[in-house]
Amino acid sequence: MTGMPHAEHPATPGTPPTAADSSAGISLEAAARARGVDLPTGEAKTELVRSMFDAIAPRYDLVNRTMTFGLDVRWRKQSLRALGLPAGSTVLDLACGTGDFLKLLEAGGYRSFGMDLSWGMLAANHTGSPLAQANGAALPVATGSVDGVTCGYALRNFTELAEVFREFGRIVRPGGRISLLEVSEPDSGLLLAGHRIWFRRVVPLIGGLLSDRSAYRYLPKSTAYLPSTDELRTLLQESGFSSVNRRGLSGGLSQLITATRSGRP
Ligand SMILES: C[S@@+](CC[C@H](N)C(=O)[O-])C[C@H]1O[C@@H](n2cnc3c(N)ncnc32)[C@H](O)[C@@H]1O
Repeated sequence: MTGMPHAEHPATPGTPPTAADSSAGISLEAAARARGVDLPTGEAKTELVRSMFDAIAPRYDLVNRTMTFGLDVRWRKQSLRALGLPAGSTVLDLACGTGDFLKLLEAGGYRSFGMDLSWGMLAANHTGSPLAQANGAALPVATGSVDGVTCGYALRNFTELAEVFREFGRIVRPGGRISLLEVSEPDSGLLLAGHRIWFRRVVPLIGGLLSDRSAYRYLPKSTAYLPSTDELRTLLQESGFSSVNRRGLSGGLSQLITATRSGRP
């Protein structure tokens, strides 16, 4: 872990979390069940997510580019601009995967480092940034030691989202920023209809052809884990963030959530 802020929590390779998400009456698994989607919870979810990303890591970039027509590259650039931190800032990319965000951070002159649950994704990481295996719910990063956090397309994959946000609040210094990307649905109209067909029918087919069929069947279902915008705002505010902002990208195909760590810098 050279080049990373001093570890406060021990890294927890192989140690899945135990509790279901719950904050301010928000239980993410309960929300998913309420939407009628049968999805794993607790340890079973963590293990599924870990093994799924281990399996799809080698072809992750190829499938990602194909299923978003390369738009994911643009969305990460927008997310980095919205982070609004100067070059030289220390930024953790949580759930860094194969490193697309880290590459942008490196090119922008940031002091970046990455963490991810999946050893397979870390092995496929193609960046020069320092990396560590860690669960976002217990980050081996010192309190107040980073200027910012980026996180791409992982919120729905966290078993303990409220804990992850609390960790963001702990490690980001007052005045620091977070910029989070997630999948989304266009509000209405033709784009919504087209998106549903693409995301629910075509993406699993492409994923099955290029990579792992069951993983890309899980992908559209996993959006049921995502809390509403209001719930996300509440969770972030409870974790010490203000100026929480959410906007849709490319007509709502993706969403970008930014916030500032409260307190005097
Ligand atoms: C859809 S991929 C996104 C990868 C990358 N951020 C990107 O933008 O392409 C989701 C990532 O979240 C990671 N992940 C899932 N649960 C995690 C957790 N609890 N802690 C850390 N990383 C996690 C997965 O291993 C995977 O690499």
